[in-house]
Amino acid sequence: MAGKAEMDFTYSSLDQIFRLSIGETGDYSGAKYDGNFSLTLEEAQRAKHAYIVEQLRIGPGSKVLDMGCGWGPFIRYAKEEAGIHCIGLTLSEGQAQSCRQKGMEVYLKDCRTVTPEDFGTFDGVVSLGAFEHFCSVEDYQAGRQREIYHAFFKTVSQLLPVGGRCYLQTMVFGKNMIPYEDIDSKADPYSDAYIMSLMLKQFPGSWLPYGSEMVIREAEPMFKLINISSGRLDYIETLRQWKKRFKRFSLKKYSLYFRKFITDKAFRHKVAVFGIDANKICFERELMEHYRMVFEKV
Ligand SMILES: C[S@@+](CC[C@H](N)C(=O)[O-])C[C@H]1O[C@@H](n2cnc3c(N)ncnc32)[C@H](O)[C@@H]1O
Repeated sequence: MAGKAEMDFTYSSLDQIFRLSIGETGDYSGAKYDGNFSLTLEEAQRAKHAYIVEQLRIGPGSKVLDMGCGWGPFIRYAKEEAGIHCIGLTLSEGQAQSCRQKGMEVYLKDCRTVTPEDFGTFDGVVSLGAFEHFCSVEDYQAGRQREIYHAFFKTVSQLLPVGGRCYLQTMVFGKNMIPYEDIDSKADPYSDAYIMSLMLKQFPGSWLPYGSEMVIREAEPMFKLINISSGRLDYIETLRQWKKRFKRFSLKKYSLYFRKFITDKAFRHKVAVFGIDANKICFERELMEHYRMVFEKV
């Protein structure tokens, strides 16, 4: 599994630059364009939030848990637009601090270990872009992938009443994923083997589920699937929009960037492995897929 060190590498190292580029409470997960790319990124993220509230059948007065809350975009939407109290959990120090400064109830805590004793039970659970980090390459190699996902759904199940819903958004490996043994950082640049090796460097400690089928099977028998849609093409557009916003000039951001580049070795490493749009290429080649899933506790 990816722990706090990996989450700090992946997220905290980007903290200020992310907020200056995408927004103080920006989403760091695929938006919901539903193929309508005339929407702005912000409109498509908002459409995703509205869809979650509708699918979870929650509203004013509901209590919701956001497992892997990032910089708090759903927590903010839930409070301001739907009157919902949402508690967030993250393993990134930078994200937790930023959320708390904005008055959000966010804890630095591994969401896979939450019990009803921690915060009580909830009317709904959401998790966007965190499931990708639950299983590491080592876990996969040791044959622990299925049990990790199953344990996660058991945890969620204990937090919900019967009929309560969970919205899960995650990347999975796609139909063209190559065998693990073929991943090779010395292969031709832009080959699948090389691109996948970059993904492993960008997201240390993280290995994806094999298709939505694997996720759905491990959610059983606690949950039944209510709704599923692919967000692969929407994610490609999201990545395009992020890139534009990261590049957009601001004196504060660029000074910070160069200062960090000179003084912070981990940041230099991150910039180096993010040079190629590996994530976008993985979606384009269908090495990776992306799903939005709504589960209901039975
Ligand atoms: C890609 S970001 C998505 C953030 C947010 N959900 C959004 O849509 O903007 C992944 C988030 O999952 C969190 N995360 C990953 N594994 C976690 C774990 N075991 N416990 C708590 N948070 C976790 C990271 O800290 C990060 O906040």
